[in-house]
Amino acid sequence: MKASPLAIYPDLVDKRVVVTGGGSGIGAAFVEAFAAQGARVSFLDIADSDGMALQEKLKAAKHSPKFVRCDLTDLDSVASVFNAIHKNMGTTDILINNAANDVRHNMDEITSAKWDASIAVNLKHLYFCSQAVVPGMRARGGGVILNLGSISWHLALPNLTMYMTAKAGIEAMTRGMARDFGTDNIRVNCIIPGAIKTPKQTLLWHTPEAETKIFNGQCLKVRVEPEDVANLALFLASKSAAKCTGREYYIDAGNYGDGA
Ligand SMILES: NC(=O)c1ccc[n+]([C@@H]2O[C@H](COP(=O)([O-])OP(=O)(O)OC[C@H]3O[C@@H](n4cnc5c(N)ncnc54)[C@H](O)[C@@H]3O)[C@@H](O)[C@H]2O)c1
Repeated sequence: MKASPLAIYPDLVDKRVVVTGGGSGIGAAFVEAFAAQGARVSFLDIADSDGMALQEKLKAAKHSPKFVRCDLTDLDSVASVFNAIHKNMGTTDILINNAANDVRHNMDEITSAKWDASIAVNLKHLYFCSQAVVPGMRARGGGVILNLGSISWHLALPNLTMYMTAKAGIEAMTRGMARDFGTDNIRVNCIIPGAIKTPKQTLLWHTPEAETKIFNGQCLKVRVEPEDVANLALFLASKSAAKCTGREYYIDAGNYGDGA
């Protein structure tokens, strides 16, 4: 079942939005949903063909979203990309820290370099992308940062310790930033997706058996789609959520795990 039609949030029109990892999956749904609200969206990714295809698909939007190639693990590149975006578009009103890579692993295959690489792609850039946008938000009297967490560590999933450690850190980072920037009217929240039916997840492991396991764990027996996550992001980014900060918001059809 696809998400119901999007609500309209008039205050999102013309807002400057940056989505990391916006080329595919949930990030692409964010790009599409904010563009449909009339926001000016830039999205960062390393996936050139996905990024270009999405830019082409949405070129008729009020403000056609701009794909910007950026490896988020390269912090010099992150700084120069944000400088360029701010020069062209103006400073960021809404940052969605979405990019991640949920590689499965056993403990014996993890080296120090792999540990650092996992933290770089799953945790570190969220802090430095936020650092790039906060001064502009302060100067404008406010802003919104949405960080993507994960239900995985809440369910203690197997073979995901590095990713889950980073995702747990994101919840702490969210609270710390919400506290530090609350006086600047910058709201910082964490979206916690459950098992979302993205193209990558479907390709990797969403067999009928896996789907049954997901349904066993969820209160609602429906698949959660990227558009459902985007609907929550629109609400949290809008003025309707003006009093929401420093918290975690689940979009998971009530997923408590199947206990297996
Ligand atoms: N899909 C799920 O079921 C699920 C569940 C819980 C949490 N999440 C979280 O939601 C967010 C989006 O997940 P998704 O399933 O859409 O992921 P995805 O892997 O489908 O997409 C991630 C995007 O990030 C990009 N990316 C990866 N490394 C990058 C880098 N170094 N620089 C720039 N871009 C990079 C990828 O190219 C891709 O376009 C992630 O934070 C993920 O942890 C997803």
